[in-house]
Amino acid sequence: MKIVMIHGQNHKGSTWNTANVLLNNITCEKEIEEFFLPRDLDHFCLGCYRCIEGRDRCPYWEEKKRIDDAVLKADLLIFTSPNYCMMPSAPMKAFLDLFFTNWMAHKPYKEMFGKRAVVISTAAGSGAKKAAGLVADNLRHWCIPEVTVYGVQVQAMNWKNVPDKIKQKINKDMQKLGARLSKNKKVHTGIRTKALFLLGCSMQKAGWGASPSEKEYWEKQGWLDGAKPWE
Ligand SMILES: Cc1cc2nc3c(=O)[nH]c(=O)nc-3n(C[C@H](O)[C@H](O)[C@H](O)COP(=O)(O)O)c2cc1C
Repeated sequence: MKIVMIHGQNHKGSTWNTANVLLNNITCEKEIEEFFLPRDLDHFCLGCYRCIEGRDRCPYWEEKKRIDDAVLKADLLIFTSPNYCMMPSAPMKAFLDLFFTNWMAHKPYKEMFGKRAVVISTAAGSGAKKAAGLVADNLRHWCIPEVTVYGVQVQAMNWKNVPDKIKQKINKDMQKLGARLSKNKKVHTGIRTKALFLLGCSMQKAGWGASPSEKEYWEKQGWLDGAKPWE
C-alpha cells in the first residue's frame, strides 16, 4: 500500500505521533512518503486563477508537482494538523488553497475516486474533530469517497506530556483503524461522491464552470458523454 502523509506542521509533536501510531498499526506491506508543511510547500495562493486554465500555470507548480505526483499514486492519504484556534494550521489551509483546482467544481482527478484518506488532529482541549473535519470536507470535494476523521483531546502542548491514559486510548483507536486499513479493500465510490460528480457534470454541461477550460477538461475525460471516473 502506498501511503502519502501530509503534515500541516513541521514538527513531530502529538499530531505526528498519533499518525505514527496509526502507521505502526497498518500491518500490510507499505511504502510511505511524508511531506511537512510549510517545509515542503512554503507559499500562499495568490488568487491569480492561473491554475484554473492549467495546473502547471500556478507560479508554484514546480514545488506542488512533487506532492501532486505522490498524492496521485497513493492508495491512502493521511493528513495531519494540530488544532489551532479551532481550525487546521495555517500551513494546512494554505496547502488546501493551493490545490483548489482538485475540487469537483473545477478539474477533479479521476484517481481520487478510488482513494482513502484519514485526517488526524489533536487539541489540548476541544476542537480537534472540528479542525480535522474542515480538512476532510476539502478531501470529499476532491472526490475522495472514504475519508475518516480522527480528533483527540491530548491535554498537552507536546507528546511527552500527553497523559498515559490518553496515549492508551490513542493506541486502542489506532489499532482498530489500522486493522481496517490493513485489509486494503477496494474503495467503494459511494452515493455521496457519485452525486457530487453528477452535479459537476450538470454544471459543466450548463457552462457554469469557472472557465471554458474546465468544460474542455470534463469533455476530454469523456465525462460529459457518460463516462464515469469510478470502476
Ligand atoms: C496557535 C495555537 C492555537 C491553538 N489553539 C487551540 C484551540 O483552539 N483549542 C485547543 O484545545 N488547543 C489549541 N492549541 C493547542 C494544540 O492544539 C495542542 O497542544 C496540540 O495537541 C498540539 O499538537 P502538536 O504537538 O502536534 O503540535 C493551540 C496551540 C497553538 C500553538
